[in-house]
Amino acid sequence: MGLERAASIDDLRTRAKRRIPRFAFDLVDGGAESERNLRRNIEAFEEVELTPRYMVDVSDIDTRATLFGQTYNLPFGMAPIGMHNAFWPDADLILARLCARENIPYTASSASSTTLERLAEAAAGNGWFQLYVSSDPSVTEGLIARAEAAEYKVMMVTADVPAAGKRDRDIRNQLAVPFKITPEVVAGLIANPIWSLGTLRHGRPNIANYADLLQSATSYADVQKTLITPGFTWDDLKRLRDRWKGTLLVKGILHPSDAAKCAELGCDGIIVSNHGGRQVAFGPPTIEALPPIADVLGGRMKIILDSGIRRGADILRAKAHGADFALTGRAMAYGVGAGGAAGAQRAKEILHLELVRALGQLGITSFETVDAAGLTAVR
Ligand SMILES: Cc1cc2nc3c(=O)[nH]c(=O)nc-3n(C[C@H](O)[C@H](O)[C@H](O)COP(=O)(O)O)c2cc1C
Repeated sequence: MGLERAASIDDLRTRAKRRIPRFAFDLVDGGAESERNLRRNIEAFEEVELTPRYMVDVSDIDTRATLFGQTYNLPFGMAPIGMHNAFWPDADLILARLCARENIPYTASSASSTTLERLAEAAAGNGWFQLYVSSDPSVTEGLIARAEAAEYKVMMVTADVPAAGKRDRDIRNQLAVPFKITPEVVAGLIANPIWSLGTLRHGRPNIANYADLLQSATSYADVQKTLITPGFTWDDLKRLRDRWKGTLLVKGILHPSDAAKCAELGCDGIIVSNHGGRQVAFGPPTIEALPPIADVLGGRMKIILDSGIRRGADILRAKAHGADFALTGRAMAYGVGAGGAAGAQRAKEILHLELVRALGQLGITSFETVDAAGLTAVR
């Protein structure tokens, strides 16, 4: 199937699956344990009904959204994805450039395969930075100082990784540090020549921001200790708030009381997220976690939502439930896997077209005016 025949994000996923070795596809596609949360994120969106309204002139539809003083062309951006180049060669830069071109935000992960400086340049003023708090405070401070020097204005600190998620597919695929060349890996490389040659050309994917620190890593435990810490607390968040002069967001909030605490500490916003179902299997889908959070915040902070967005209408469902903006992780990743830069563009076009069509069917001419009034019926 050619890219032009990909009608949905799911079609792009199918195409990506055929072009990427199993271990690399699973790395992005998989979720925690039974993957219940991964599935529920998507199913729960589908269950939210929006009631169409007609006989409104919808010949001119405005999809723009203003956030933290910047107006974006669309109400969604790219979520941070670590080690993205393992999924497709140069995925990081492809997506940063796309976001610059389309005027939507691009979030550079602490664990990105390209340095945060190169990504800031490629995102051309649309870059946000995602911080993982390390067990070593000097590593965390080093990243913040680099993000500042690279002129990122928005930093999101990820709160939902006291430990890496347990992803059964990665265990079965024997993903390890250092990387193991198993017979399955060799077979996957031979069966997917475009991926393999591209990866050869761009160099072995690594975690670029910590390249020096991780050179001597001999296990996942070493990598995790550098990247994340089980000891990240509210006191640390308070210190980060004092330290970071720009916009500070907290990613991975699911409980209304945690959302309220973020507001009390003076954060500028939260990302209601379950890491795309990669941390636990037992949690709520984000579209269900959102309404009580929106209630408790009462407009005190901006709310961004991710996890499970596969359709343009999902962004409207999130807005109708109290979110201001959305991020997508896998939807755009599948696009890159399906066809590099052209595939990423196709993913954006699909979400964009679906969003505009849905607004038209709902009789709404401006995204920013979407609210729950008369729009939703949650089963
Ligand atoms: C392969 C992969 C890597 C990710 N890496 C990070 C990361 O480095 N930092 C982070 O905060 N979130 C990370 N996430 C979570 C995403 O930012 C986002 O929350 C999630 O993908 C949203 O769900 P969706 O994929 O269903 O859109 C990652 C997700 C995936 C799929």
